Amino acid sequence: MKKLILLLVFITISICYTAQIHVLPKLGYEYAAYEPFIDSHTMKIHHLKHHQGYINKLNKALKGTKKEKEPLSSILMNISLYNTTVRNNAGGHYNHSLFWRILKPKPNKQPSEDLMRGIGKSFESINKLKEEMNLEAAKRFGSGWVWLILQSNGELKVTSTANQDNPLMDLIKDRGIPIIAIDVWEHAYYLKYQNKRNDYLGAIWNLIDWGVVSDNYIKAFSSPIFQELKTHNWPELNVFRNDLSHIYYSAEIENYAPLKTMTKELMLKSIYLKNSEIPKDLRSDEYGYHVILNKIEKQCIELHDLVLENSSNKTLLKKLNTMHETFHQVQGVCKHYDEHYHEFKNK
Ligand SMILES: [Fe+2]
Repeated sequence: MKKLILLLVFITISICYTAQIHVLPKLGYEYAAYEPFIDSHTMKIHHLKHHQGYINKLNKALKGTKKEKEPLSSILMNISLYNTTVRNNAGGHYNHSLFWRILKPKPNKQPSEDLMRGIGKSFESINKLKEEMNLEAAKRFGSGWVWLILQSNGELKVTSTANQDNPLMDLIKDRGIPIIAIDVWEHAYYLKYQNKRNDYLGAIWNLIDWGVVSDNYIKAFSSPIFQELKTHNWPELNVFRNDLSHIYYSAEIENYAPLKTMTKELMLKSIYLKNSEIPKDLRSDEYGYHVILNKIEKQCIELHDLVLENSSNKTLLKKLNTMHETFHQVQGVCKHYDEHYHEFKNK
């Protein structure tokens, strides 16, 4: 009995020790099922070695940090706060997870009516969309990805990013929610197509499932990320967010200097924010931004008063956390990211 208990304790400790936050999604098909468009060997290496490699490095880079359990989408939307290792590997994990989800050996070839309307508006036809994506892919120098994204104005756009960057990242100029992802790294095609990237691009469309793509499109409109991207066209909000992020993330690593020296500036920026013009898409009463912005201003003044009174770090942090929570009502992020992220897990 004693041995059994010890064994159970050992197994429990082993599981806890080896538990990984980010895990490799299953493909749902044999590697050979993607033939003849992608060969079995490429699929296997790409999935088991390359994608798994990004996941391992991401888990390692975040291990033991306060961001270890941060949802993947949240990391990407705030990637400017992370180092290059996290940028490359969080991007690598997200990008490949989306890529696998839209590829199917026997794909649905009919986009939904909603998606057809969206494509018609931005590209005239599916063929034109494919042409534009292939052209963008051919132009991408070196390694990278080509995307169909839903922009914050509700329109579709074709874009491309280098390395493992993607359009969710706050450092990227053309931002939006990815609907289609095409991997144009050589590891995605070199074994079968060698340097003939255009042949690979011609073939990949035979695997893209328009049912999944249509689903991505419709879900993107109700995603909290869509809401947050709209706020990026609000300059006063961006200025306030930058200062708040700096204060908040410094305090997280126990650097309280910004918290004690920048609250006056933050307070002034909260006043500019309250008096700023709310972007057209966000003016509806249902968002209640006027009420939230007043609350942020009040809490910034209170935080600054606490600093002037030489309050303890604990008291300052409590107020900062309250204000940070209020700010997230503007952003519509964090908690809701989980929902978006879990769509990618184990699929
Ligand atoms: Fe790849």
